[in-house]
Amino acid sequence: MSAVAQSAVLAILEQHISPLHARAMLARAVGSDGAIEIGRLPELVEALERGVRLFGGARLEDTIKRQILALAPSEASEVRIEIAEERDVIEARLAARQLCQTLGTRALVIQRVATAVSELARNVSLYAGRGVVTMTPLRGGAALRIVVEDEGPGIADLKSVLDGTYVSRTGMGKGLLGVKRLVDEFDVKTGPRGTRVEATVVLDPTSGGMAR
Ligand SMILES: Nc1ncnc2c1ncn2[C@@H]1O[C@H](COP(=O)(O)OP(=O)(O)OP(=O)(O)O)[C@@H](O)[C@H]1O
Ligand SMILES: [Mg+2]
Repeated sequence: MSAVAQSAVLAILEQHISPLHARAMLARAVGSDGAIEIGRLPELVEALERGVRLFGGARLEDTIKRQILALAPSEASEVRIEIAEERDVIEARLAARQLCQTLGTRALVIQRVATAVSELARNVSLYAGRGVVTMTPLRGGAALRIVVEDEGPGIADLKSVLDGTYVSRTGMGKGLLGVKRLVDEFDVKTGPRGTRVEATVVLDPTSGGMAR
Protein backbone atom coordinates (compact mmCIF):
# COMPACT_ATOMS: atom_id res chain seq x y z
CA MET A 1 0.00 0.00 0.00
CA SER A 2 2.98 2.31 -0.12
CA ALA A 3 1.99 4.29 -3.16
CA VAL A 4 0.77 7.79 -3.87
CA ALA A 5 -1.88 8.77 -6.39
CA GLN A 6 -0.66 10.49 -9.52
CA SER A 7 -3.23 13.17 -8.82
CA ALA A 8 -1.24 14.16 -5.70
CA VAL A 9 1.85 14.75 -7.82
CA LEU A 10 -0.21 16.55 -10.43
CA ALA A 11 -1.68 18.84 -7.75
CA ILE A 12 1.84 19.85 -6.76
CA LEU A 13 2.89 20.57 -10.34
CA GLU A 14 -0.28 22.57 -10.95
CA GLN A 15 0.61 24.91 -8.08
CA HIS A 16 3.52 26.12 -10.19
CA ILE A 17 2.88 25.25 -13.82
CA SER A 18 -0.21 25.56 -16.01
CA PRO A 19 -2.47 22.48 -15.73
CA LEU A 20 -1.92 21.62 -19.38
CA HIS A 21 1.85 21.59 -19.10
CA ALA A 22 1.75 19.89 -15.70
CA ARG A 23 -0.32 17.06 -17.11
CA ALA A 24 1.93 16.64 -20.13
CA MET A 25 5.06 16.72 -18.02
CA LEU A 26 3.74 14.09 -15.64
CA ALA A 27 2.53 11.86 -18.46
CA ARG A 28 5.97 12.01 -20.05
CA ALA A 29 7.61 11.08 -16.74
CA VAL A 30 5.39 8.19 -15.65
CA GLY A 31 3.49 7.00 -18.71
CA SER A 32 -0.02 5.68 -18.04
CA ASP A 33 -2.06 6.73 -15.05
CA GLY A 34 -2.38 4.94 -11.73
CA ALA A 35 -0.48 5.03 -8.48
CA ILE A 36 3.22 5.63 -8.07
CA GLU A 37 5.24 3.43 -5.71
CA ILE A 38 6.75 5.42 -2.86
CA GLY A 39 10.14 3.90 -3.62
CA ARG A 40 9.94 5.30 -7.13
CA LEU A 41 9.36 8.92 -6.09
CA PRO A 42 13.06 9.90 -6.35
CA GLU A 43 13.08 8.38 -9.84
CA LEU A 44 10.00 10.40 -10.75
CA VAL A 45 11.58 13.57 -9.42
CA GLU A 46 14.58 12.93 -11.62
CA ALA A 47 12.39 12.33 -14.65
CA LEU A 48 10.57 15.62 -14.05
CA GLU A 49 13.75 17.55 -13.34
CA ARG A 50 14.64 18.86 -16.78
CA GLY A 51 11.12 19.96 -17.67
CA VAL A 52 10.62 21.75 -14.38
CA ARG A 53 13.97 23.50 -14.61
CA LEU A 54 13.18 24.76 -18.10
CA PHE A 55 9.97 26.22 -16.74
CA GLY A 56 11.03 27.81 -13.50
CA GLY A 57 14.75 27.43 -12.98
CA ALA A 58 16.63 25.78 -10.15
CA ARG A 59 14.53 27.39 -7.40
CA LEU A 60 11.27 25.95 -8.69
CA GLU A 61 12.98 22.63 -9.29
CA ASP A 62 14.01 22.55 -5.61
CA THR A 63 10.55 23.42 -4.37
CA ILE A 64 8.80 20.82 -6.49
CA LYS A 65 11.39 18.17 -5.66
CA ARG A 66 10.85 18.77 -1.95
CA GLN A 67 7.08 18.74 -2.24
CA ILE A 68 6.99 15.51 -4.22
CA LEU A 69 9.42 13.71 -1.92
CA ALA A 70 7.36 14.85 1.06
CA LEU A 71 4.46 12.77 -0.28
CA ALA A 72 6.29 9.68 0.95
CA PRO A 73 5.02 8.66 4.38
CA SER A 74 8.42 7.36 5.37
CA GLU A 75 9.86 10.80 4.69
CA ALA A 76 7.26 12.85 6.46
CA SER A 77 3.85 11.74 7.59
CA GLU A 78 1.60 12.69 10.45
CA VAL A 79 3.32 12.86 13.82
CA ARG A 80 1.37 12.32 17.04
CA ILE A 81 2.74 13.06 20.50
CA GLU A 82 0.89 12.39 23.73
CA ILE A 83 1.31 15.07 26.34
CA ALA A 84 1.15 14.05 29.97
CA GLU A 85 4.11 15.72 31.61
CA GLU A 86 6.68 18.47 31.15
CA ARG A 87 9.06 16.11 29.39
CA ASP A 88 6.50 15.51 26.65
CA VAL A 89 6.37 19.24 25.92
CA ILE A 90 10.07 19.16 25.07
CA GLU A 91 9.52 16.03 23.02
CA ALA A 92 6.72 17.73 21.06
CA ARG A 93 8.97 20.71 20.35
CA LEU A 94 11.74 18.42 19.11
CA ALA A 95 9.33 16.41 16.98
CA ALA A 96 8.07 19.64 15.41
CA ARG A 97 11.63 20.68 14.53
CA GLN A 98 12.42 17.28 13.13
CA LEU A 99 9.32 17.10 10.98
CA CYS A 100 9.97 20.58 9.58
CA GLN A 101 13.56 19.67 8.82
CA THR A 102 12.39 16.63 6.89
CA LEU A 103 10.11 18.92 4.90
CA GLY A 104 13.01 21.24 4.09
CA THR A 105 11.60 24.19 6.03
CA ARG A 106 13.68 27.36 6.54
CA ALA A 107 15.19 27.89 10.00
CA LEU A 108 13.06 30.94 10.79
CA VAL A 109 9.84 29.10 10.02
CA ILE A 110 10.99 26.06 12.00
CA GLN A 111 11.44 28.35 14.97
CA ARG A 112 7.86 29.63 14.65
CA VAL A 113 6.45 26.12 14.40
CA ALA A 114 8.49 24.84 17.35
CA THR A 115 7.46 27.78 19.53
CA ALA A 116 3.78 27.40 18.66
CA VAL A 117 3.83 23.66 19.37
CA SER A 118 5.60 24.01 22.69
CA GLU A 119 3.34 26.83 23.94
CA LEU A 120 0.22 24.81 23.12
CA ALA A 121 1.66 21.60 24.56
CA ARG A 122 2.71 23.44 27.70
CA ASN A 123 -0.81 24.75 28.18
CA VAL A 124 -2.12 21.20 27.90
CA SER A 125 0.28 19.89 30.51
CA LEU A 126 -0.37 22.85 32.86
CA TYR A 127 -4.12 23.26 32.60
CA ALA A 128 -5.56 20.01 31.25
CA GLY A 129 -3.09 17.47 32.55
CA ARG A 130 -2.97 15.44 29.39
CA GLY A 131 -3.71 15.71 25.70
CA VAL A 132 -2.41 15.08 22.21
CA VAL A 133 -0.41 17.05 19.65
CA THR A 134 -0.85 16.06 16.02
CA MET A 135 1.22 17.55 13.20
CA THR A 136 0.23 16.88 9.62
CA PRO A 137 2.06 18.05 6.50
CA LEU A 138 -0.38 19.55 3.98
CA ARG A 139 -0.12 20.03 0.23
CA GLY A 140 3.01 17.92 -0.11
CA GLY A 141 4.81 19.71 2.69
CA ALA A 142 3.92 23.27 1.66
CA ALA A 143 2.18 23.76 5.00
CA LEU A 144 1.86 22.11 8.39
CA ARG A 145 -1.32 21.63 10.38
CA ILE A 146 -0.91 21.52 14.14
CA VAL A 147 -3.80 20.21 16.24
CA VAL A 148 -3.53 20.24 20.02
CA GLU A 149 -6.42 18.64 21.88
CA ASP A 150 -7.28 17.89 25.47
CA GLU A 151 -10.26 16.90 27.57
CA GLY A 152 -9.49 19.37 30.33
CA PRO A 153 -11.73 22.04 31.90
CA GLY A 154 -11.62 24.42 28.91
CA ILE A 155 -10.48 28.04 28.71
CA ALA A 156 -12.93 30.13 30.69
CA ASP A 157 -11.76 33.53 29.44
CA LEU A 158 -10.97 32.76 25.83
CA LYS A 159 -12.19 36.15 24.63
CA SER A 160 -9.94 38.17 26.93
CA VAL A 161 -7.03 35.74 26.34
CA LEU A 162 -7.26 36.40 22.61
CA ASP A 163 -7.76 40.17 22.84
CA GLY A 164 -4.74 40.49 25.13
CA THR A 165 -6.55 41.80 28.22
CA TYR A 166 -6.37 38.52 30.15
CA VAL A 167 -4.34 38.55 33.37
CA SER A 168 -2.83 35.15 34.10
CA ARG A 169 -2.12 33.82 37.57
CA THR A 170 0.11 31.05 36.23
CA GLY A 171 2.18 32.69 33.52
CA MET A 172 2.47 35.76 31.36
CA GLY A 173 -0.92 35.13 29.82
CA LYS A 174 0.46 35.73 26.36
CA GLY A 175 1.05 32.14 25.17
CA LEU A 176 -2.09 31.60 23.18
CA LEU A 177 -2.14 35.09 21.69
CA GLY A 178 1.54 34.67 20.81
CA VAL A 179 0.76 31.44 18.98
CA LYS A 180 -2.07 33.13 17.10
CA ARG A 181 0.38 35.74 15.84
CA LEU A 182 3.01 33.17 14.87
CA VAL A 183 0.82 31.02 12.66
CA ASP A 184 -1.08 31.63 9.43
CA GLU A 185 -4.41 30.11 10.43
CA PHE A 186 -5.68 29.77 13.97
CA ASP A 187 -8.82 28.39 15.56
CA VAL A 188 -9.74 27.51 19.14
CA LYS A 189 -12.71 25.48 20.25
CA THR A 190 -13.09 25.24 23.99
CA GLY A 191 -15.73 24.21 26.50
CA PRO A 192 -16.19 22.31 29.75
CA ARG A 193 -15.27 19.06 28.02
CA GLY A 194 -11.99 20.19 26.56
CA THR A 195 -10.02 22.38 24.22
CA ARG A 196 -8.96 21.97 20.62
CA VAL A 197 -6.52 24.39 19.03
CA GLU A 198 -5.92 24.07 15.31
CA ALA A 199 -3.17 26.09 13.66
CA THR A 200 -1.70 26.02 10.18
CA VAL A 201 1.72 27.31 9.25
CA VAL A 202 2.76 27.90 5.66
CA LEU A 203 6.20 26.32 5.33
CA ASP A 204 6.99 27.26 1.80
CA PRO A 205 5.90 30.78 0.81
CA THR A 206 6.72 30.11 -2.85
CA SER A 207 3.80 27.69 -3.09
CA GLY A 208 0.99 30.21 -2.89
CA GLY A 209 0.72 30.61 0.87
CA MET A 210 0.83 33.81 2.84
CA ALA A 211 4.34 35.13 2.43
CA ARG A 212 5.95 36.77 5.44
N1 LIG B 1 -5.57 23.76 27.17
C1 LIG B 1 -6.07 24.55 28.11
N2 LIG B 1 -7.02 24.09 28.97
C2 LIG B 1 -7.54 24.89 29.93
N3 LIG B 1 -7.19 26.18 30.11
C3 LIG B 1 -6.25 26.68 29.29
C4 LIG B 1 -5.63 25.91 28.25
N4 LIG B 1 -4.76 26.69 27.60
C5 LIG B 1 -4.83 27.89 28.20
N5 LIG B 1 -5.70 27.91 29.22
C6 LIG B 1 -6.08 29.06 30.08
O1 LIG B 1 -5.90 30.21 29.30
C7 LIG B 1 -5.00 31.09 29.95
C8 LIG B 1 -4.13 31.79 28.91
O2 LIG B 1 -3.22 30.88 28.32
P1 LIG B 1 -1.89 31.45 27.69
O3 LIG B 1 -1.10 30.31 27.18
O4 LIG B 1 -2.25 32.53 26.77
O5 LIG B 1 -1.17 32.14 28.93
P2 LIG B 1 -0.51 31.45 30.19
O6 LIG B 1 -0.33 29.99 29.98
O7 LIG B 1 -1.31 31.88 31.38
O8 LIG B 1 0.89 32.18 30.26
P3 LIG B 1 2.10 32.01 29.21
O9 LIG B 1 2.26 33.37 28.60
O10 LIG B 1 3.25 31.64 30.09
O11 LIG B 1 1.73 30.96 28.23
C9 LIG B 1 -4.23 30.24 30.95
O12 LIG B 1 -3.83 31.01 32.06
C10 LIG B 1 -5.23 29.19 31.32
O13 LIG B 1 -6.06 29.66 32.35
MG1 LIG C 1 0.56 29.27 28.20
